[in-house]
Amino acid sequence: MKKILVLFGSPHTQGKTAALLKIYLKQYVKNFHKDFKINKLFIYNQNILPCTGCGCCIKSGICSQNKKDDVEKIFDFILNSNHIVVASPVYFSGFPSPLKAMVDRSQQLYNKKIKNGKIKNLRQRTGALVATCGSENKKGFAALESCCKQFFDCVDAAFSERLFASNTDSINNWKIYTKI
Ligand SMILES: Cc1cc2nc3c(=O)[nH]c(=O)nc-3n(C[C@H](O)[C@H](O)[C@H](O)COP(=O)(O)O)c2cc1C
Repeated sequence: MKKILVLFGSPHTQGKTAALLKIYLKQYVKNFHKDFKINKLFIYNQNILPCTGCGCCIKSGICSQNKKDDVEKIFDFILNSNHIVVASPVYFSGFPSPLKAMVDRSQQLYNKKIKNGKIKNLRQRTGALVATCGSENKKGFAALESCCKQFFDCVDAAFSERLFASNTDSINNWKIYTKI
């Protein structure tokens, strides 16, 4: 059985990102997996402290914040999944702050893997990005995707696909993309 984990980064459980995620999952599951289990993690409901850049994980591979919040549990969940879906709205060309804080904390995984100044993505799972933005200007998706791919390198996920919707602040004129 394939374990799919959705990292849901929008504060709105019934909003635009949730609507696009529904489309993605219908399509993805129809095309690829008959036997699967979907877990959804609402990132806004998690206790995620920001990276303080203390340098602890460079020396020990362990983050000084891990004992104080949910991030270790979230990374265990990710590393036990076959497919990760990062679902998020664009906020100022980036991820909303709780999701960005989680991504920043994956620096500890980066520092565990780094050898001779480089890390290797072991591609032990796949990862997709599902994102929405309010305006017609889809430039924000490129920044989001770049950040997401760095995160996937840290969690050994091969980027498999994207589904983007722009112009979501208009009532009925969403533009849907699978390429940027
Ligand atoms: C704080 C904030 C920042 C935003 N920044 C952008 C942006 O940079 N570009 C854009 O096109 N839309 C931006 N938006 C609009 C959201 O990306 C858009 O409404 C999104 O589809 C909302 O998804 P949701 O219903 O899941 O919250 C922003 C919205 C908020 C609340």
